[in-house]
Amino acid sequence: MQVFLETRRLVLRRFTMADVDNLVSLDADPDVMHFVTGGMPTARDEIENELLPGFLDYYEQFEGYGFWAAIEKATGEFLGWFHFRPREEAGPDEAELGYRLRKSAWGKGYATEGSRALISKGFTDFGVQRVVAETMVVHEASRRVMEKAGLTLVRTFHQPWPYPIEGDELGDVEYALDRADWERRQQAGRAGAGTPGEARG
Ligand SMILES: CC(C)(COP(=O)(O)OP(=O)(O)OC[C@H]1O[C@@H](n2cnc3c(N)ncnc32)[C@H](O)[C@@H]1OP(=O)(O)O)[C@@H](O)C(=O)NCCC(=O)NCCS
Repeated sequence: MQVFLETRRLVLRRFTMADVDNLVSLDADPDVMHFVTGGMPTARDEIENELLPGFLDYYEQFEGYGFWAAIEKATGEFLGWFHFRPREEAGPDEAELGYRLRKSAWGKGYATEGSRALISKGFTDFGVQRVVAETMVVHEASRRVMEKAGLTLVRTFHQPWPYPIEGDELGDVEYALDRADWERRQQAGRAGAGTPGEARG
């Protein structure tokens, strides 16, 4: 197992081709996929031949960036994943944060815990200058995770999306956190953007 980092309750490790079943079952839950595809599952074939090879390519292309499988330390179970990757339309020092967890793992603070650790490691070890995340206006849980991880609302925008769901007429939101602000908060010892020692490994 190639561990990228550990938090108090999670291990974030590299994906391998042995994770096909984990991803198939994660994306088979319509509730997990509601804000992603309107609830449609991802086909096994797509996971095996496109998504997972794409995840593995990231490890070759970028240091410190990628899709990380989230494992619950207490049980060893696969919970889902986080991504922390270069933002397409920006330079390599701007990272895009994302997450997808099994329903059984929701509401326990895991998305916040993993996000804070990735942000901390990105700013501390990999020269990241800005972390950005996007979601739908109506995706309250995801917005709350962004806020708890220290990101603040930058803008609301509208983009075409192929899977219409209720609330998408309200558009999307972009949240962001700059390294200087994160450092200031770390120094001030305030909670909200990760705590020292949270990201290990
Ligand atoms: C979004 C997601 C990652 C959140 O994971 P999680 O581990 O439950 O998140 P956390 O427990 O760290 O925090 C969730 C916060 O949202 C709040 N929340 C959850 N549902 C909510 C809702 N419907 N309205 C308002 N707040 C809500 C929780 O109360 C919690 O905030 P709190 O700690 O202040 O009480 C998870 O729901 C998920 O994987 N969803 C499916 C995939 C997805 O939509 N990914 C994001 C795409 S942008």
